[in-house]
Parts: sequence; structure tokens; C-alpha cells
Amino acid sequence: MTILQIQEATTYLQSKVAFQPEIGIILGTGLGGFIQDIDIKHTIDYKDIPHFPVSTVESHSGKLIFGYVANKPVVAMQGRFHFYEGYDMQQVTFPVRVMKFLGIKNLLVSNAAGGLNETYQISDLMILKDHINLLPHNPLIGKNLDDLGPRFPDMLEAYDKKLRNIVSEIAQKHQLRTHEGVYVAVSGPNLETPAEYKFLRIIGGDAVGMSTVPEVIVARQMNLHVFAISVITDLCFEGHLKFVTLEEVIAAAHRAEPNLRLLMCELIAKI
Ligand code: HPA
Repeated sequence: MTILQIQEATTYLQSKVAFQPEIGIILGTGLGGFIQDIDIKHTIDYKDIPHFPVSTVESHSGKLIFGYVANKPVVAMQGRFHFYEGYDMQQVTFPVRVMKFLGIKNLLVSNAAGGLNETYQISDLMILKDHINLLPHNPLIGKNLDDLGPRFPDMLEAYDKKLRNIVSEIAQKHQLRTHEGVYVAVSGPNLETPAEYKFLRIIGGDAVGMSTVPEVIVARQMNLHVFAISVITDLCFEGHLKFVTLEEVIAAAHRAEPNLRLLMCELIAKI
């Protein structure tokens, strides 16, 4: 990845889009329905954007969507890139770099995750307050491009407290089941063994998934305000372990989607 590549992708998008987005949104597995809340002005296929990776997972369609939510200009990624698909970490996070160059100040991320915390139920929402990165690679490895951000970015407040508090208030107002918790990122694509789930809980995880952390690291290096939220799609603790299929994960995500959409829309209105 070079600055020139980010600039070329940005210039291409700016030639197609007449406004500057303030908020970037990454939609997770089974959570693409939020698109219906966007007053869409432009839809651009990843394959048409210079240097953009192309999405391969069947549950993700690869499009960048520009429009307005609550009168705020947004850009949303419908479909994200996962390390397990074979992309390297710089490809996984390239769209976040481009969204920053387009002018976003905030990044909102959603994902599907397995619940490690024994109090969680399927289709609950977990607001990320922190993460543990167990991915085998890091998007910032390599020569640092100082124009993008510091060599050793801080991760003390990766998840913006103000944004978290706004969402907690919205959730309370609507009496939605939400938690604040720690997300553990693993590479996948296999799900975890029972012993691994136990380990992830012991080290402090409340939910486990295969995404989000690379994008958050890159976003924080570039000083974006980050909000991230998991939909709990399966339960990963004793008494509840069972075989899960992608279909079940997507079905659980869909059940939570109305609540998630409500939270996202009201959050965006308040940013
Ligand atoms: N493990 C990892 N990733 C996941 C899971 C899980 O149990 N559920 C949804 N994404």
C-alpha cells in the first residue's frame, strides 16, 4: 500500500460523488440492511475503484454507498474484507484509509460475533469498550507512512467513550438488550474449539469474531473516532455449545438488525 494508491482511489471516488462524507460505516455479516436507512446518492462497486480489493465472501456484496442518514453525509461499506479470505492486512484496511482521505471523522463498525460472556443471549448487542487482538498479523507492520499517522499509535481509548455513552442512552431509552464488552479478534475461518472459547473468556473476552480490529487499529492511527458494535450470533460457553452454520449466524444477525439500525440511525443523528 502506498499513499499514491490511497490518493488514486480517493480521487476516483471524488470524481463520482458530489459531497464529502463525515461518517464512515462498515457493515458486518448479515447486517447489510442498514443500507435501507441511507438516502442513497451514489453506489460504487469495489471492482471499479482503483486498488480496492474485491469481496469474495458470498454473504458480503462489495459496494461503497454514499448518501445521507439524518441529514449527515455518510459513506458505507456494504461488505468488508477479512484476513481469512486471503487478503493481507493492508488490503483489509485499505478502504478505511480511503474513507479517511475522503474526509470522514468518525468510523462506525458492526460485526457478528460469538458470545463468551455467560450473561449474553443470542441477538444481544455488545458495544465494544476494548479489544484483544489475537490476529497473526497487524496492518501497521512495515515501514511507517508518517503522513498517515504515528509509528506507535495509542490504543488506550480505541473506542470513543462519548459515542459509547450516546448509544447506551439510546439503548436505555428504547429498552434494548445491550452490553459493553471486550471483543477478541481471531483469524478464523474455523470457529473455536471448546478449550479455545474457555481460554478467550479467561483472558477477558466477552465476544469473539474474525473482523473489526484491523480496521479499528488503522482508524485510530489516523485519529478517527471509532464506535463498534457486535451482534451476538451464537453462544460459546458451557451448556450452550453447539454446531453453528453460517445460515444460523446470519439469521441471528437479521433478528437483531432492527435494533442495530435504530441505534445506528439515532447515533448518527447525534454525532
Ligand atoms: N467465533 C468466531 N467468530 C464468530 C463466531 C464465533 O463463535 N460467531 C460469529 N463469528
